[in-house]
Amino acid sequence: MWSGTPLFPEAASTMADRVDALYFFLIGLTAFFSLLIAGLIVTYAIRFRRRSPDSIGARIHGGLILEVTWSVIPFLITMGIFVWGASVFFAMSRPPDETLNIYVVGQQWMWKFQHLDGQREINELHVPVGRPVKLIMTSEDVIHDVFVPAFRVKADVIPGRYTHLWFEPTKPGTYHLFCAEYCGTRHSGMVGQVVVMEPNDYQTWLSGGTEEGSLASAGQKLFADLACNTCHRPDAQGRGPVLQNLFGKTVELTSGERVVVDEAYVRESILTPAAKVTVGFQPIMPTYQGLVSEEGLLELIEYVKSLKQDTPNAQ
Ligand code: CUA
Repeated sequence: MWSGTPLFPEAASTMADRVDALYFFLIGLTAFFSLLIAGLIVTYAIRFRRRSPDSIGARIHGGLILEVTWSVIPFLITMGIFVWGASVFFAMSRPPDETLNIYVVGQQWMWKFQHLDGQREINELHVPVGRPVKLIMTSEDVIHDVFVPAFRVKADVIPGRYTHLWFEPTKPGTYHLFCAEYCGTRHSGMVGQVVVMEPNDYQTWLSGGTEEGSLASAGQKLFADLACNTCHRPDAQGRGPVLQNLFGKTVELTSGERVVVDEAYVRESILTPAAKVTVGFQPIMPTYQGLVSEEGLLELIEYVKSLKQDTPNAQ
């Protein structure tokens, strides 16, 4: 209903209506109480004004029912807002199981997107309509923040870790993408657009992409270039753990801790290998800090993921 208003962004994701409903409820509630209180102040100021110089106000000793009422009602309202807000928050933070994953690297001052099939984009992101999309994001330098008002989603992009953001576009179109965290001189220029396409158009767009091959195959090449394969061999004879079918598993560390092999763990193991060594192995792996770019790390992660299904070249 507000899409024609220049002040209000279009609603183009499954989350948009839920966020808007909560937002308008809060606006309505705030307006209601503001008007009620302002109205009462004016009414009472007139009604109980001092009518003669010697008039004295009545003594009031409190009223239990009144006080309980004005404590309990706001309590119930705020608890309602809390539960409602929490349910929207959980829905936003938990992506569905099946998502289209796209990597995002923020950098002063641009957005880089990498599709699993190998397409790379800068300041422009193409996605299909009606399919949940998960962004796996990191930064080359400082903290940035992805914000797509039409989708009502927003999340920080932090150097040294992977953060996630998901949305399901409901309408084809082109939507603004902003950086919503002050990140330096040209922060305001760190903008882009999300192009939501019909599934068929999206497939056409994908196939019209570069011939670089998938992210996983780029990772496989990098894996060989860095000679990772001399230690991480598929036959358990190497000096490092076997990577086949490793992603998503829980491994035991020399410290006795157990960790899940996820994006963050693979990244850490490449950059600071000694931090979490798998039980049964020596901390002999050199660090690759400074040798692999954030994009290279994403390629390696995708390669390790692709090793999940016994077929090393899958994807
Ligand atoms: Cu990146 Cu502000």
